[in-house]
Amino acid sequence: MAVKRVPEPVHLADMELRHIHGVLEIERQSFPTPWSERAFVSELTQNAYAHYIVALRSSQVVGYAGMWLILDEAHITNIAVHPDERRHGLGHDLLTELEVRAYNLGCLRMTLEVRPSNPVAQRLYRRHGFEPRGLRPGYYSDTHEDAIIMWKDELVPASPAPDPAPGAPSLPRRPLGERG
Ligand SMILES: CC(C)(COP(=O)(O)OP(=O)(O)OC[C@H]1O[C@@H](n2cnc3c(N)ncnc32)[C@H](O)[C@@H]1OP(=O)(O)O)[C@@H](O)C(=O)NCCC(=O)NCCS
Repeated sequence: MAVKRVPEPVHLADMELRHIHGVLEIERQSFPTPWSERAFVSELTQNAYAHYIVALRSSQVVGYAGMWLILDEAHITNIAVHPDERRHGLGHDLLTELEVRAYNLGCLRMTLEVRPSNPVAQRLYRRHGFEPRGLRPGYYSDTHEDAIIMWKDELVPASPAPDPAPGAPSLPRRPLGERG
């Protein structure tokens, strides 16, 4: 009798340097202008504002997401799921995890940019309560598309938020590269 193999469950974890190879494979299949290995290494080792997570199945990276935490605002830099793993709720799980972590680290609002030509991502964000608030003209240098700026004003409390860190760093520049 044939034994049906049940796939290993997916779990979420902090992104580490050893995950970058798997992240890059998904990155290249997901974005017209993928980030480089150096960009991810820099995010993990040099950027104090950055916070990245991975979705792992049997230690394989099947999705990832990241954000910058700046005072009480979280700015999503990227979210992607391996093409073979899409439409099973992983994008939703990654976004939920970012929201919970951002809230628990003292953020009250969340923002991101998305391409007008990416209705799938827009739908995911709307389902999470993000709403469009404006455009960044010509934001994406590869296609010269505008970016839709979306915001979510009230992150849902998952557990008591810590007191804001005294002397938290001031606001830096826009994210490393244009996504969407
Ligand atoms: C956007 C992305 C992360 C969604 O990941 P996912 O694991 O497929 O998403 P989920 O299965 O959790 O679906 C969540 C919601 O996304 C939307 N969605 C996902 N795939 C969709 C599709 N093919 N068509 C329409 N809506 C879709 C839906 O709203 C869905 O919820 P619903 O089906 O209950 O309405 C994934 O498509 C991806 O990696 N895309 C390439 C990278 C990218 O565009 N990232 C966003 C940059 S701004």
